[in-house]
Amino acid sequence: MQTLTLTRPDDWHLHVRDGAMLASVVPDTARQFARAIIMPNLKPPVATVDLALAYRKRILAAVPEGMNFQPLMTLYLTEQTTPDDIHRAADCPHVHAVKYYPAGATTNAASGVRELDRVWPVLEAMQDVRLPLLMHGEVTDSDIDVFDREAVFIERHLSRLVDAFPELPMVLEHITTKDSADFVREGPANLAATVTAHHLLLNRNAMFEGGLRPHHYCLPLIKREQHRQALVQVATSGNPKFFLGTDSAPHPRGAKESDCGCAGIYSARNAMAFYTEVFEDAVALDKLEGFASHHGPDFYGLPRNPDRITLVREEEAVPDQVDFGGEPGVPLRAGGKVRWRPLEG
Ligand code: DOR
Ligand code: ZN
Repeated sequence: MQTLTLTRPDDWHLHVRDGAMLASVVPDTARQFARAIIMPNLKPPVATVDLALAYRKRILAAVPEGMNFQPLMTLYLTEQTTPDDIHRAADCPHVHAVKYYPAGATTNAASGVRELDRVWPVLEAMQDVRLPLLMHGEVTDSDIDVFDREAVFIERHLSRLVDAFPELPMVLEHITTKDSADFVREGPANLAATVTAHHLLLNRNAMFEGGLRPHHYCLPLIKREQHRQALVQVATSGNPKFFLGTDSAPHPRGAKESDCGCAGIYSARNAMAFYTEVFEDAVALDKLEGFASHHGPDFYGLPRNPDRITLVREEEAVPDQVDFGGEPGVPLRAGGKVRWRPLEG
C-alpha cells in the first residue's frame, strides 16, 4: 500500500457559507485541513471584526467533535471600510486578511470596490499593520472579454498596487493563466498566489464537454490547456510564492442548473486527493508538502501545523451528489473516482 505523509495542510481560500449549508460543508474541510482562510462574501458581507467573530463562532460550532479545525477570518473590503476598521482587525487575533472583490466580479460581490482610489487610505493602513490583501483579480467591464478579465486586472490594477505597496502582503487568489503565474513569479516577495485544484485539473473544454456543464462553471473561468499546464508547472515547482487555496464554493444543484447558474465548484470533499493527483501526474509528489502545508503559513507569518496527515493511494468513489443542508449539491468529479484518500484519525 502506497502512502504519503505530510505536515497537515491548510486551505488558504475557502467558502463555507452559513446556516444549514455551513453545517454540512465544514466537516469535509476539517477532515483534511487544520486551518482555512474563510471568504467573507455572505449576505450581508462580513465587513467588520464583530461580524467576523460571530461568523467564526458559527463555523466552530459546525466542526465535528474530535476534529481540530481553525477558521482564519477575513474582512470584506468595501468603499465604506475605514483605516480604523483595519486597526481593529490588526488587533484581533482571528482576522488574518482583507478580501478585495471588484464590485460585481462574482457571487455576492455587489458591495465590493468600484474605484480603487477610494480605498487607498485603507490599503495604506493595511500596509502599516501588514494585514494581507487577498484579491479577486478580475475587471468587470462589459467590453472586456470574460476570458481576459484576469489579464486586464493585472495590467490596470495589480501592477499599480505592486508599485505603490512594497510592504503590503498581497495574494492574487485562484490564478488561472500563464500570465498571472509569470507576473507573480517575477513580482516582489510581498506578492503570492493561490491555485485551486480545479484550475490545475481542468481546461475550459470541461465547461462544454458534450453539452453545457454548469458544475465546471466558476470565476475566474477555467482557461485554455496551455494555461492549465503553466499553473501545474508553478504549483509543482517548489516556489514558495504559490500555495494551496481550493476556492471550494458550494451552491445547491438547482442554483447551478439554472437559466442563470451560479459560479462555484465544490471541491472540498476530495480536495487533497485532487491536488495529490496533480502532483503525482507531474512527477512532483515531493513538492506537495511545500505547496499544501508550508508556503501558506510561511507567507502569512503563522506557524506550520505540528501534526501530520497520511494519504493512501487507494481508489475512492465520489458520490453523484452530496447534502448541502437539506438541498442536493454536486461535488467536483461527481460519479467518478479519485486515486487518493486521507486516512481517518
Ligand atoms: O466561482 C466562484 N465562486 N468564484 C468566486 O469568486 C466566488 C465563489 C462563490 O462564492 O460562489
Ligand atoms: Zn473564492
